[in-house]
Amino acid sequence: AGAEQLSDATTDPITIGHRASAGLAPENTLAAVELVKEQGPDLFEIDVQLSSDGVPVMMHDATLARTTDVEEVFPGREGDLVNDFTYAELQQLDAGAWFSERFAGERIPTLGEILDHGYHPDLGIVIELKNPADSPGLVDVVVDELNSDPRWNELAADGRLTAISFDLDAVRDFHELRPDIPVMGLGGVPQSDAELEAIAEWATSWGTNYRTLDPADVDRVHEAGLLLNVYTVNSPAHMEYVIDLGVDMVTTDFPGVLVDLLAGA
Ligand code: G3P
Ligand code: CA
Repeated sequence: AGAEQLSDATTDPITIGHRASAGLAPENTLAAVELVKEQGPDLFEIDVQLSSDGVPVMMHDATLARTTDVEEVFPGREGDLVNDFTYAELQQLDAGAWFSERFAGERIPTLGEILDHGYHPDLGIVIELKNPADSPGLVDVVVDELNSDPRWNELAADGRLTAISFDLDAVRDFHELRPDIPVMGLGGVPQSDAELEAIAEWATSWGTNYRTLDPADVDRVHEAGLLLNVYTVNSPAHMEYVIDLGVDMVTTDFPGVLVDLLAGA
């Protein structure tokens, strides 16, 4: 029923800030979470991996070189995986200066800190289980975190919490542990209708890159019973294009631009 309702062309899509609000602040940091609250999307998305000692931390890439000063702090380790560093080591890194000196001193946050800063009556959270193959135990650690604080349950009960991943086994495992929280598979739209329908048995939505989306696949995804999310849609022209296609969710680095566009501002 949700898919039918939300695919109605007269219904605005759900708005999602990408890596919190990656266009305006360093991605996956508390600064980006603070900014997304001011911009008014329905949800914001963050990428979660594990440190070598099992702490769920926010980082998109498999390595730290692009978004931290790892080369200066740990010379020679810039090619190491995020998961090769302890939480204490990760805390020594600056995760903001690469974006702008204005954000120098931002640290790599934990999932718990994301909740502390991102919990808000009008905002939901999309947790991407990132690179689970490099983070053994990631699904269990995230589920433990969600069970550890009643505010996560409030978000879940309110339909404001989603788990997503390119690793379909990971989101399926997550779904088995927390069937009350919707999950989304990511990747190119599967070309077999039978495969889409099998995914719809456990997933609520599918997320794909709008640049490679075949417009004919919007209906195929809906007919399978899934909502469709597209990422990462950053210009107003591209936002209008995907809204006209009838997608159900739009993920953007500039959530304020999308919110204003939908409001007709
Ligand atoms: O919302 C999905 C999107 O975040 C997936 O792509 O590479 O930005 O994690 P990526
Ligand atoms: Ca992501």
